[in-house]
Amino acid sequence: MKPPVDGRLSREIAGRDGLAAETRAVRSFAERFGGEPTLVVHAPGRVNLLGEHTDYNEGFVLPMALHLGAWIALRPRADDRVVLRSLDFGEEQAFELSRLHRGQGWIEYVKGTAWALQEAGASLRGWDGVVTGEVPIGAGLASSAALEVAAARAFAAAADLPWQPVTAARLAQRAENEWVGVQCGIMDQLVIAAGREGHALLIDCRHLTTRPIPLPPATVVAVLDTSTRRDLVDSTYNARRARCEEATRRCGVRSLRDLGLSELEQRAGALTDEQLRLARHVVTENARTLAAAEAMTAGDAAAMGALMDASHRSLRDDFGVSSPALDAIVAAAQQAPGCFGARMTGAGLAGCAVALVEESASAAFAAETEQAYGARSGLPATVHLSSPCGGADVKAVG
Ligand code: GLA
Repeated sequence: MKPPVDGRLSREIAGRDGLAAETRAVRSFAERFGGEPTLVVHAPGRVNLLGEHTDYNEGFVLPMALHLGAWIALRPRADDRVVLRSLDFGEEQAFELSRLHRGQGWIEYVKGTAWALQEAGASLRGWDGVVTGEVPIGAGLASSAALEVAAARAFAAAADLPWQPVTAARLAQRAENEWVGVQCGIMDQLVIAAGREGHALLIDCRHLTTRPIPLPPATVVAVLDTSTRRDLVDSTYNARRARCEEATRRCGVRSLRDLGLSELEQRAGALTDEQLRLARHVVTENARTLAAAEAMTAGDAAAMGALMDASHRSLRDDFGVSSPALDAIVAAAQQAPGCFGARMTGAGLAGCAVALVEESASAAFAAETEQAYGARSGLPATVHLSSPCGGADVKAVG
């Protein structure tokens, strides 16, 4: 049977109770707070098609938003208290907007976003809410950024503030950098805030400009979940970013984006072997990302796929953020029917890979990739077929 490619990922849509996430959030709101929520926010997850670890080097990325996302059902309060129940963590947290203190756990993404908005001068209002996420945590699909941008959208809607996607993305990134402590770039928050239905976004991370790029005709994006997970807060993400910054300083440029491969090679003597490999990944990945946007625009799925394959090799051999599970699922996908190309996606070390697949072969692709990955790794895989979603939105209900 052909898996559904209906704009939503094929699995993990309904919870154990069989209800969609939005319905679960709305029902649970009524149970906990009484009456209906007045607003429902959706912020998508994301999968990155090309351009990994380039965003914090002021380079180029090509992600798309996923329908799978975070949902918040909420109702503004008269005071400055935020009360939020998480269905996924099975707990409730509360805080006052006038007295924000750092703590631990999922609520910090919400609190940190409130902090960043207030630091930017926003006058916020409290709300009661229920949150639930469909994005698997630690899988490289930006579950944290989805929660931050959902929170930003909720705060903006509750306080009747205008929604400006780029500004919201920068503030959500600030929350993650300065409140949570992960020195992430802008990619996740920006595509989640500003995604365009049916398109990936080519983002210039220096100028924060975006260009919608259509998928090649008759192709789908497959998200390949290895069922391995990592924690960005504990991972080597910040350390790798700091090493890229040191390489940048030694090269004498503002950012690695300003170098071509031959210019980098001329500076090789100033770098350690590791710094050279990290920088080489960034420099070649920027070129691949720009070429990928051109290939997709020209409808050239084969060229796009070859760039994805090359990106995986560079992330594995030069940047050092693949893993045996990611290598196994990429190899399984590359040999499956209808595959144009595959690579790990997101920060790496665990989580998901992504492939570009011929739509007519997608059912066979999914089945064979899952089977071959299981045989290679002994772990279960889940293949989700997806199409690009729009950015975070809010609707009035009740
Ligand atoms: C994480 C970060 C992003 C980006 C990717 C790697 O998802 O949040 O900013 O750096 O890793 O490309």
